[in-house]
Amino acid sequence: MDNQQQVDQAKLLSPKRNTSNASSIEELAAEQLAHFGIDQQSDYGKALFQAASHLYQTQLDVNAIWRITGDTLEGLSKENKLAYFNAKKFLSFQIAKVLDTLQNPFRATYQSMNSQNGSQISKSHYPLFDNVTALFSATPVIVRTATYVYACTEWVDDAFQGKEFTHQIYSRLLNPTNISLANAIVDLEAGPYSADYLAWNFNSGMAAIDALLSNVLGHGDVLIVSRNVYGGVYQLLHDYFARQNRLDIQLEWFDGYSADEFEIFMQSVKQKHKARLEEHAMHVYIESPCNPHGYVLDIAGICEIAHREDHLVMLDATLATPVLHQPLQQADKAKRPDYIVHSYTKDLCGSGATTAGVVIGEGYRMFQAKGDCVNGYDWSRTMFWDVYYIKGAFLDSEKAFDVLNGMKTLEQRIMNKVINTQVFSRFLASHPALNVNSHALADHPNAAIREKQMRHGWPCALFTVDMEGAGLTRDAFVRFFDALEPAFSHQVSIGQNNTIILCPALTSHSEMAKKEQEKAGIHLTTMRIAMGTDNVKELLAHFLHTAKLHIDPVLPGFSQQFMSGAELDELYMQVCMKVCQQHYGSGASMQTLLGQNAEGELNPDSPKELVEA
Ligand SMILES: Cc1ncc(COP(=O)(O)O)c(C=O)c1O
Repeated sequence: MDNQQQVDQAKLLSPKRNTSNASSIEELAAEQLAHFGIDQQSDYGKALFQAASHLYQTQLDVNAIWRITGDTLEGLSKENKLAYFNAKKFLSFQIAKVLDTLQNPFRATYQSMNSQNGSQISKSHYPLFDNVTALFSATPVIVRTATYVYACTEWVDDAFQGKEFTHQIYSRLLNPTNISLANAIVDLEAGPYSADYLAWNFNSGMAAIDALLSNVLGHGDVLIVSRNVYGGVYQLLHDYFARQNRLDIQLEWFDGYSADEFEIFMQSVKQKHKARLEEHAMHVYIESPCNPHGYVLDIAGICEIAHREDHLVMLDATLATPVLHQPLQQADKAKRPDYIVHSYTKDLCGSGATTAGVVIGEGYRMFQAKGDCVNGYDWSRTMFWDVYYIKGAFLDSEKAFDVLNGMKTLEQRIMNKVINTQVFSRFLASHPALNVNSHALADHPNAAIREKQMRHGWPCALFTVDMEGAGLTRDAFVRFFDALEPAFSHQVSIGQNNTIILCPALTSHSEMAKKEQEKAGIHLTTMRIAMGTDNVKELLAHFLHTAKLHIDPVLPGFSQQFMSGAELDELYMQVCMKVCQQHYGSGASMQTLLGQNAEGELNPDSPKELVEA
């Protein structure tokens, strides 16, 4: 690297990073001292000059580590990867230690400036002194602040242009806890392709969906929407975006689940809006698994068809979570949705204590520094500048932390729910008068796509069941339903640890005319069940006791028609064993993890050892 290249790299640390005339590291250090009015010949000036010069040099050295890592990481042996990792971890501690060492003289100078009692109270304790050690916190730090301390004018100017990420300006734009969650969800969702994706977090799932639609939709565009989207999304689209005096979006409701059905539907929509599409765009918004029945759509197939004709695909994957389905981990990018939305409020957080949401998309669509343009996509169109920081529905740090904490147990919770869903669906289906609408059942029309697409073919923990076949009166049914508490919670949400049961005809859909309810597959006795992680056998027992108490008196023998207790015990064990085997058996073998062949020798195909110089 020639001298000029070195100066260009080191300049990033200069208070005059955009206006410096320095042609060497020494000149950079001298400029820095002059910028802050320090006499280079004084003892203080000499020490500061040395420290600054070494820091500029350190920046070059760390850049070299970055470059070498990028060039060699793929071919490194596992041993070298772990050695490199721990060496970098220790270096981080060393750099933090240097920063912490600086705090004592820094604080002493600050204290010496406080001549009057109480003159600094409004600033509270100057935060830099104490915050350095927060770097060593074992969980992400909850950064509860609206504002941040500036380094200097040129750095903050860069921050306003989106060119300086260490330097946050205002929590509505960026907040460290929020960013930590964004990085975690991208890693979980996109796996090996994480480097290509970015996420923005919002204060609720609906805020995330509103931001996404506001970013993507143009006035008069056509939007294909899968039929069974969450009710709030239906309202947002129908009552806001589709209104002529708003964005005049032409909504086309897709009823199917397969790629073939989508192809036919998309072509018919294109035909219908032929004239409009000469000037406007068409996009696709789908939810899978969808509310209230939990059916899945063929996401890869639908994306491929939409992308063939350049239509963007937005997917609400809340009910799947990245444990059940990883649509961004398709090797063929054409099969991946362009955007994924989650309501963190549900399984990702899991506790039911927080509302939050996220949009994940390719990096260049989510953020670019001011003035940049990638893939013909200008910075001003990116979600960050176009809607995120302007609308201000960002996620604050406490809630971001709640979600991060919840995500740690996601995999175990989902596995538990898969077991419960399979057992409970089969228990309900064993009764001749019940109609169970759950793709967990092998003979369900949606089971084939579920089997092909979801991890291990696992079902979604949301389904419906109706008792129309039993011919119950409204009064008898309502008494039965009301007595399902406390084992089943009468609440409206989904994706929590407690099992939630809701009767759409009597609650969420009660304002629909009876005919409309029937069209949507909602009968008086339809119950939506969002399985929790509870002990499913206790749920089954409560359900049977409730049936005995309120249904048997009007329909003698009703509760006897379910599978027997002994059969349920056996079913439970079978399902538990199968799901655990699928889960624990799917990880890499020790042989693979150790990079060995069948004889226990180092596999010749594993990456060549790269010895550190
Ligand atoms: C599938 C789905 N998407 C989005 C939302 C909206 O999320 P939030 O309640 O966090 O605004 C919900 C809420 O129930 C949902 O079920």
